[in-house]
Amino acid sequence: MGNVIIITGSGSGIGRTIALRFAKAGYRVVINDIVKENGEKILAEIISQGGQGIFVPADVSNIEQVRNLFQTTLAEYGQVDVLVNNAGVPGGFSFITDMPDETWLKTISVHLTGTFFCIREALKTMIKMETGRIINIASIAGLMGTVGSGEYGAAKAGIINLTKTCAKESGPFNITVNAIAPGMVGTPTNLKLQKKRSQFIETAIEGTPTGCMTTPAQISETCFFLASKSASNITGQVVTIDGGAEMSTNMDSFMAQHLIRRNKSASNNNHGK
Ligand SMILES: NC(=O)c1ccc[n+]([C@@H]2O[C@H](COP(=O)([O-])OP(=O)(O)OC[C@H]3O[C@@H](n4cnc5c(N)ncnc54)[C@H](O)[C@@H]3O)[C@@H](O)[C@H]2O)c1
Repeated sequence: MGNVIIITGSGSGIGRTIALRFAKAGYRVVINDIVKENGEKILAEIISQGGQGIFVPADVSNIEQVRNLFQTTLAEYGQVDVLVNNAGVPGGFSFITDMPDETWLKTISVHLTGTFFCIREALKTMIKMETGRIINIASIAGLMGTVGSGEYGAAKAGIINLTKTCAKESGPFNITVNAIAPGMVGTPTNLKLQKKRSQFIETAIEGTPTGCMTTPAQISETCFFLASKSASNITGQVVTIDGGAEMSTNMDSFMAQHLIRRNKSASNNNHGK
């Protein structure tokens, strides 16, 4: 029987591609998402292609729901070999001075607290099994400050640091823990924006030395490698997949100008009232 993988937020985008990749390789796939219809749809897709899996809805920032995700997985399959922490919400895009408390709290709780909750539950089983692979989807935003994304960058930086601590603590149990830091990814949402000639996407691509967005498949293949035997001695690492975008400041100038224009227009509208 195939190994068991849990992928959080796998009802769409990058997580969906990771789920399909591992299912194709014979893994028993645990789909998780907060959006029920999307989770059920991807599970049906896996089963129609001859794969195996279950869907367990859960909000990763809710500890009771995370416990249920792992309990349901263990009741069904009895093991957890790989955990991919992928669930996420987009940033709110504002200067720190304008950032509402809710934006900060929501982003930190889904990305960072959610990753922590899932890691802690996974380790309980992986330490007993004396084997396991944890892969955290971070972002290049977590490696550099990015204008307009203070909360998102801080959450991803926290995930990168947690990855390293977790790798140190769980290495003796034959568990590896790594992070992947993508740049702009060609998800269905971003491809639609690109088609509409979104300046946000065009600026990101201009600032990418290879001139290409990262594909979801490039991320799923990297996950597959990190979960493979070949990667058994790679731990505590951040694999950046961004076409070199981390070296560019294009997005900072673009976002700064965009947010200044947006703030000015909001303040003009308020004066007109
Ligand atoms: N798209 C990019 O350009 C990009 C770049 C760098 C990093 N990332 C990261 O990759 C991951 C996936 O992003 P994506 O672009 O595929 O986005 P996406 O919105 O398509 O997928 C995220 C999924 O997470 C789910 N989700 C949201 N909150 C949740 C919660 N509390 N509990 C469980 N599931 C929840 C959503 O329903 C969604 O299905 C995220 O962590 C994101 O920060 C994306």
